[in-house]
Amino acid sequence: MKKLSARRRHPLAAVVVLLFALAVTGGLYAAFAPADTAKADDTAQSLAIEEGKKLYSVGCASCHGTGGQGTSDGPSLVGVGAAAVDFQVATGRMPLQQQGAQAPKKKAIYSQAEIDQLAAYIASLGAGPSVPSKSQYSPDGADIAKGGELFRTNCAQCHNFTGKGGALSNGKYAPPLDDVDPKHIYEAMQTGPQNMPSFPDTTMTEKNKKDIIAYLDTVNSSKSESPGGLELGGLGPVSEGLFAWVFGLGAMIAVAIWVAAHTAKAKKS
Ligand code: HEC
Ligand code: HEC
Repeated sequence: MKKLSARRRHPLAAVVVLLFALAVTGGLYAAFAPADTAKADDTAQSLAIEEGKKLYSVGCASCHGTGGQGTSDGPSLVGVGAAAVDFQVATGRMPLQQQGAQAPKKKAIYSQAEIDQLAAYIASLGAGPSVPSKSQYSPDGADIAKGGELFRTNCAQCHNFTGKGGALSNGKYAPPLDDVDPKHIYEAMQTGPQNMPSFPDTTMTEKNKKDIIAYLDTVNSSKSESPGGLELGGLGPVSEGLFAWVFGLGAMIAVAIWVAAHTAKAKKS
């Protein structure tokens, strides 16, 4: 006993104990850390769902039902997925203010963090498309020419040849696509908002969606300097044909009149 207490009082004893404690802590940390982060992720996720549920009951439940099952004022949100929520809320379409032909784009009233929470809650109600990652929607390295071709065959009938938008029936319209965030273009194709058909990966691959985004990015960034001179409203062959008719034919008629007038003069003298 005497021996032990003597050693305990040794000047280095405290250091030894400290080193031993550090080694044990380090070892324990190494052993348990990965499990801990996984658990932390889980808690973060369920926390987001809980917060999203609160936001939802205040701002959305009156139309979409307390459990997202839908009411006469709004469709069911079970299975629409996080991508639909991110698109609808981040572009300000939701929460809807008044029923009309089409939910208009407005300034978003929720922060991106709140939108993520709402999306987490809706995604927890039923599986649906998740929010795309940056590598999915970024136009970098995509095939712009292919994107233009895909756009003309799949989107131009509603959105116009260079994405300027157009009217549909009954007061509905396909909006212009300049100034739309690449992420929201991707999500619109994934989820098909309102009167727009959806283009799931089975009919339009991830790569093709990227090509279309790159095409829109190019036509929109070159808007101010239209490569062929006057852009004629970007309406494609119709306006360009009209231009040729009015000015081309007009010029030919003018020349014909001038020639006729001069030959008449020449005959008289
Ligand atoms: C005033 C009623 C109303 C409120 C409030 C409202 N919505 Fe909606 N929501 C609608 C209607 C109506 C539609 C269908 C729009 C259409 O197709 O014309 C819709 C559509 C949606 C869609 C698209 C569903 C799909 O099938 O792709 C999502 C997602 C959505 N709402 C989320 C929300 C969220 C999240 C909130 C709360 C922040 C919210 N809504 C608040 C009425 C409402
Ligand atoms: C049948 C007509 C139709 C076709 C085809 C169509 N869209 Fe749409 N699109 C619409 C309508 C209508 C809306 C407006 C929906 C809304 O406000 O909720 C829309 C909305 C969008 C938006 C959201 C714009 C914004 O301002 O937030 C994007 C992006 C979009 N479409 C891209 C595309 C792309 C890309 C294609 C082709 C792959 C396509 N659309 C094909 C009708 C169409």
